[in-house]
Amino acid sequence: PLVSMKEMLEKGKAEGYAVGQFNINNLEFTQAILQAAQEEKSPVILGVSEGAARYMGGFKLVVSMVKALIEEYKVTVPVAIHLDHGSSYQKCAEAIHAGFTSVMIDGSHFPLEENIALTKKVVELAHFHGVSVEAELGRIGGQEDDLVVDDAEAAYAIPSECDQLVRETGVDCFAPALGSVHGPYKGEPNLGFDRMKEVNELTGVPLVLHGGTGIPTHDIQKAISLGTAKINVNTENQIASFNAVKEYIAANPDKYDPRKYLTAARDAIKETVKGKIREFGSSNKA
Ligand code: G3H
Ligand code: ZN
Repeated sequence: PLVSMKEMLEKGKAEGYAVGQFNINNLEFTQAILQAAQEEKSPVILGVSEGAARYMGGFKLVVSMVKALIEEYKVTVPVAIHLDHGSSYQKCAEAIHAGFTSVMIDGSHFPLEENIALTKKVVELAHFHGVSVEAELGRIGGQEDDLVVDDAEAAYAIPSECDQLVRETGVDCFAPALGSVHGPYKGEPNLGFDRMKEVNELTGVPLVLHGGTGIPTHDIQKAISLGTAKINVNTENQIASFNAVKEYIAANPDKYDPRKYLTAARDAIKETVKGKIREFGSSNKA
């Protein structure tokens, strides 16, 4: 069923695993992720960036597609449709009214007080509709769709500010930027685990780790042990599907039917998501 992220993340935090947010770009991504979650008996979060929603035909179309697939596949695991990096109150409201069960308001580029005021407003509307909210402080480097943060701008969140934001806004989960990056890492990630521990102890809410592509398993496990209950993965599935399509076309240069090469893409995404779900420890937790 379609649910908010609240219960699934609180359960994950209490039991020591993380729920994956896997971003969707089209029908095949959505099919692959829902099937992987159902087969693994895992809760799952479908991440939808504003750019991806635009590509697919808008928030309402995304909600209809997800609902239809849940019904068609008889999905019984908890599924959340979550606006990823919501850029404004208006976009969050639009997503909520279209039927999203969760939103992220990304006010991380604003000064603290403005971020808090904006997040608070979104929480008020969202909670009225039973929708969960994620907020962010600090700046996650790299690029995801419209969101570009260069190395100089990337910044680690300050624990006391995180505490203030969570306390004053009532968000359900929180993403402190601690050195993770959108897209592939240049070298090994350098995550601020000391601060993660502090933020966890101060705020108590489930923490979110963005930039899940390319983080080694020992860092994933450490993050989970420090209160991370949601891990976002986008690029890894894009690369897996891209490689599958390239391989398929190289081996079958005349097969122009999109159902052929997109089946290869969908299979690759499904396998990648299953691997992540196992790595995050959420198999059999639905
Ligand atoms: O918000 C989405 C994620 O943080 C995805 O990051 O593309 O590096 O896996 P990624
Ligand atoms: Zn992100």
